[in-house]
Amino acid sequence: MIAQGEEVYALAGGEPEVDTPDFIKEAAIQALNDGRTKYTPTGGIPELREALSAKLKLDNNLDYDPKQICVTSGAKMACFQAILAAVEEGDEVIIPSPHWVSYPEMVRLAGGVPVIIETQESTGWKMTPEQFEDAMTPATKMVIINTPGNPTGAVYSEEELRAIGEVALEEDILILSDEIYEKLVYGETKHVSIGSLSEELYNLTITVNGFSKAYSMTGWRLGYTAAPEPIADAIAKIQSHTVSNASSFSQYGALAALENGQPFIEELCGEYDVKRQFMLQRLKGIQNIRVVEPMGAFYFFIYTGQTGLKSLNLCDKLLARYKVASVPGVAFGYDEGVRLSYCTTLDILNEGLTRVEQFFREH
Ligand SMILES: Cc1ncc(COP(=O)(O)O)c(C=O)c1O
Repeated sequence: MIAQGEEVYALAGGEPEVDTPDFIKEAAIQALNDGRTKYTPTGGIPELREALSAKLKLDNNLDYDPKQICVTSGAKMACFQAILAAVEEGDEVIIPSPHWVSYPEMVRLAGGVPVIIETQESTGWKMTPEQFEDAMTPATKMVIINTPGNPTGAVYSEEELRAIGEVALEEDILILSDEIYEKLVYGETKHVSIGSLSEELYNLTITVNGFSKAYSMTGWRLGYTAAPEPIADAIAKIQSHTVSNASSFSQYGALAALENGQPFIEELCGEYDVKRQFMLQRLKGIQNIRVVEPMGAFYFFIYTGQTGLKSLNLCDKLLARYKVASVPGVAFGYDEGVRLSYCTTLDILNEGLTRVEQFFREH
């Protein structure tokens, strides 16, 4: 529709609308000009792995030696490599829904079986320890925790993570902790890394993170895993035999991001908090949807069950009649909801929400 010249109010994005900061671009350009255009070590350039080791200690209270860290081509590959490294044919992987679109497919590609647990609005779209326990079977190998979460923006508290961790410890279930939105948390909310909560949990956890969301570097394809040594070795082997290494000059950009990115993150986070609160007020005023306040990421997952429409149909209608792009809940394993994101300008958000209000008045 955009290509045909139509105005579309895109509330469907999954990336910051602003450009990568110049100082990051300049570091990558400098790397190119310096001839950093060759293969790098499989796990990443040593400076970046060291900087990540220091970051994980400082921000997350996690002790990872640089050799336990693998710099990957995006957090997506980080998740996939972690799953490939740990999941064997027939292993079950517990995934709370609404979940990020790619987890079940990654598990299937590894020969595993995704076991989807439907979370509720009443628990803020978070899996309870009881749900986790009930879903466990002798074949359970891994659980995926994504906090702050896509598509719900849910952030697990330390207490909630401890309770989930206790269940995982009962049967030594591995935890894939996808923390890609860690820097985007609002109000008093704190991001907690489950691997930092005890030595036992550290030994079961693969921490995934990346540069895409916090530094607006989605196109640079840069993420990382940090894991106990045997798993870290397996992840590095998979990388060695598939992508070889993350893009060389991207890694130099990432190093600059880690060194000087804090002011950018603070500004981005402040702007998103304004948009989040604006959107919360607007969505709360709509009668036939329900909304849980998201404390992280840049999404709202709204409950649309009362409309009686399937999510894909709803999104199609919203796009065709009101020119608002959104993402159907079915993509996240939950058909009675829709994801709306606020990673766009306030003007587009404002007009898009006016149209969303009109749509729900009629449905
Ligand atoms: C929960 C989650 N994990 C991982 C990723 C992948 O991030 P990257 O762009 O670094 O591959 C995304 C991107 O949308 C995401 O939402």
